[in-house]
Amino acid sequence: MRRFLPLLLVALTAAGTTVAASALSAGWWLAAGPALALTCLGGRDLLQRRRPVLRNHPLVGHLRYRTEQARAGGTGTGTDEPFGGERDGDEFLVPSLHPVEAAEEAPVVRVGGPDCAQPYDMALLNVSAMSFGALSSHAVLALNRGAALGRFAQDTGEGGLSEYHLRGGGDLVWEIGTGYFGCRGADGGFDAREFADKAALPEVKCVSLKLSQGAAPGSGAVLPGVKVSAEIARERKVPVGETVVSPPCHRVFSTPRELVLFLARLRELAGGKPTGFKLCVGSRREFLAVCGAMVAEGVAPDFVVVDGSEGGTGAAPTGVAGRLGMPLTEGLITVHNALVGVGLRDRVRIGASGRVATGSDVVKRLVQGADYTNAARAMMLAVGCVRARRCHTGACPAGVATQDPLRAHAVNVADKAGQVWRYQRETVRDAVSVMAAMGVRGPGELTPAHLVRRTGPGTVRSYAELYEWLAPGELLAGPPDSWATDWKAADPDSFR
Ligand SMILES: Cc1cc2nc3c(=O)[nH]c(=O)nc-3n(C[C@H](O)[C@H](O)[C@H](O)COP(=O)(O)O)c2cc1C
Repeated sequence: MRRFLPLLLVALTAAGTTVAASALSAGWWLAAGPALALTCLGGRDLLQRRRPVLRNHPLVGHLRYRTEQARAGGTGTGTDEPFGGERDGDEFLVPSLHPVEAAEEAPVVRVGGPDCAQPYDMALLNVSAMSFGALSSHAVLALNRGAALGRFAQDTGEGGLSEYHLRGGGDLVWEIGTGYFGCRGADGGFDAREFADKAALPEVKCVSLKLSQGAAPGSGAVLPGVKVSAEIARERKVPVGETVVSPPCHRVFSTPRELVLFLARLRELAGGKPTGFKLCVGSRREFLAVCGAMVAEGVAPDFVVVDGSEGGTGAAPTGVAGRLGMPLTEGLITVHNALVGVGLRDRVRIGASGRVATGSDVVKRLVQGADYTNAARAMMLAVGCVRARRCHTGACPAGVATQDPLRAHAVNVADKAGQVWRYQRETVRDAVSVMAAMGVRGPGELTPAHLVRRTGPGTVRSYAELYEWLAPGELLAGPPDSWATDWKAADPDSFR
């Protein structure tokens, strides 16, 4: 309630000075006038529904908006003024002197290999995994409604399937983390029956097993106690107010072979819905061990989501963010090549997450091997995040990353759902226009030659030249020297 103190003080000052002006001397109006004006402004902040920061922090919130505007003006970003390109980065997509007409329809990619009974058409950009717990009820609901409006998917994150994920009518990728929240047995393990019941819900289009995440690979996710409200505690079957630390790895499998067999079991329990996993790649050998297990067991996931080490988190700072795991570029290229090399790329789709925010970010990731992309922090911005970086304190001024119901209610769901929808739609349109300017009619025509990196003064190399790209089945037929050692060491019966 401390956040309403400035308004209270201003209102008391206004009342006191107004009384003094009427009873003592007209000179008091000099103080009463501004105090009354500020009280009216604060009242309007409380009553308006468009800006959650002002609702949560009447009067003081204006300072934040001013700072944001100054920042946006200073960097030249955040405005839509036609001012031309401003970035002189080290990488660029290759335009064509013979561009094509941009496609009218937004492309989708069909997810679901031969063992999948209910394939799903995934949009080029979707809402990345963010749980109810990390995000507020209203933020989750706004993302879900936005996904329904734009017909794209929302990943639930590992906190389980909450009523807010189900209320807006959006398509869901249900994520199962190491804590098995949402399908957690009394002993903290996986509850197959609960999983099957929820996976059967029509809103659940895909199931994603979370192995690791870019912000903290090798550690379990953390939900600070301050965010473990009674509702979250019920949802996750954990004590109220106690910090939830998910185990660092799954207890239902301990080898790559057991992992792929568990994926097959999940898919079966889910009635054949597309089932895959999410990871931040550590070593190439380890991922090859998983691919080896797929080949040995004749079981492949329907998709793999690659998270880059540049990924974000709503949890308490762990100190490892960005220091462990492959950045998205290397992770994607590794996963794409490995799947091509074992001859499974045509049945396994690849999703990519890690600072995807614009249409050209989407296209860049497609060139590097992805079939579709997910965005977390960009979607948070669409839902009203002001980058206060207080996600782990529970005191998010925008009502996005908090479990304080008063703060959360400042998020206007209808308004923000529209913003999420428009953001996704325009970003995908932008991606389609970028591809058209490159002379390609859709993602299927992109090749590694379409992305170029500056390698020194006056020298540029395309991704076709910079990276090695395996031929279908090449690892099985006879791996090139550069892959032979890792492929030989990859053991389907050991992650080590
Ligand atoms: C608030 C927040 C909560 C997240 N929660 C999860 C989660 O529950 N499960 C998961 O796999 N990733 C989680 N992530 C990671 C994102 O899904 C995503 O992989 C990562 O942030 C990279 O995407 P970005 O750069 O677009 O944010 C979370 C990220 C944020 C910012």
